[in-house]
Formats: sequence, C-alpha cells, structure tokens
Amino acid sequence: MNRKLEHARFQKLITELAEDGRTLRMKRYIQHSNKSTYDHCMDVARHSFFFAKRLHLRVDEVALVRGAFLHDYYLYDWHDHGDHLHGYHHPDIAVANACRDFQLSEKEAGIIRSHMWPLTLTKVPTSKEAAVVCFVDKVCSLRETLNRK
Ligand SMILES: [Fe+2]
Ligand SMILES: [Fe+2]
Repeated sequence: MNRKLEHARFQKLITELAEDGRTLRMKRYIQHSNKSTYDHCMDVARHSFFFAKRLHLRVDEVALVRGAFLHDYYLYDWHDHGDHLHGYHHPDIAVANACRDFQLSEKEAGIIRSHMWPLTLTKVPTSKEAAVVCFVDKVCSLRETLNRK
C-alpha cells in the first residue's frame, strides 16, 4: 500500500468516530501542554496506524484505530480532578465510557484498558494492537510534555 492509499485508509477508519459529537467533547479538555485530549487521541491513532504499517505488522486496523482513538475517553480535565492516581484509574473510566457510548469489541476494550501498562501492573497488553498503542501513547505523551509537535 503506498502512502496516499494508507492516508486514505486511515481517514476511512477514523472519520465516523472523529466526527461523533460524543468524541468531540474531548476537545474541551487539555491533555499535556496546550494539546487537547481529542488531538492527543487523534495523534495516538494516526501514529499507531502508521507505526504498524512501517513495521509491516499484521494488525486488525479497525480495532487498532478505534482503540487508539478512544484510549483516553475519560471525559474530564485531569488537571482539575484532584485524583493523584489518575494514571491508574483513567483507563478503566475510559473503557466504561467507551462501552457505554459505542459498540466495542473485546480487543478494542483491551487496548484501552492496558494502555498505561506497566503503571497498571496487572493490565498487560494482550494483543499486538494493544502493545502498539501502549508504546505509541508513551512516545506521544513524552513529546507533548516536552512541548514538541
Ligand atoms: Fe491515558
Ligand atoms: Fe494517552
């Protein structure tokens, strides 16, 4: 698949969720620096998809992109929340919200649940897709914290 086709494929996979009024609420909350949770989730979805492509990983593209885009679907500003254990708790909150609002496969739920591993010790990524999102989220978060684009 050439780059142009890959970009078209990514757009096709992300559009419905990305334009949904419920996921658009993530634009209200700041993730790191000046980046919204929505933009962070979009970055993680995009980089996860292209990372898997570059490594020629045979992944479930639908689950990868949906799980990546919803991985931080916890719907509050964690800076205001006063929860010092936000890092531990938010994957479960995101899974619960995502299952409430969308039809999630077990693999998609697993991607969200395990994305903070190894912080959440027992929630180990159990699929290739979950491992990719777990890794890419850390890279994106670090870049945002260092305030690079
Ligand atoms: Fe997260
Ligand atoms: Fe994240």
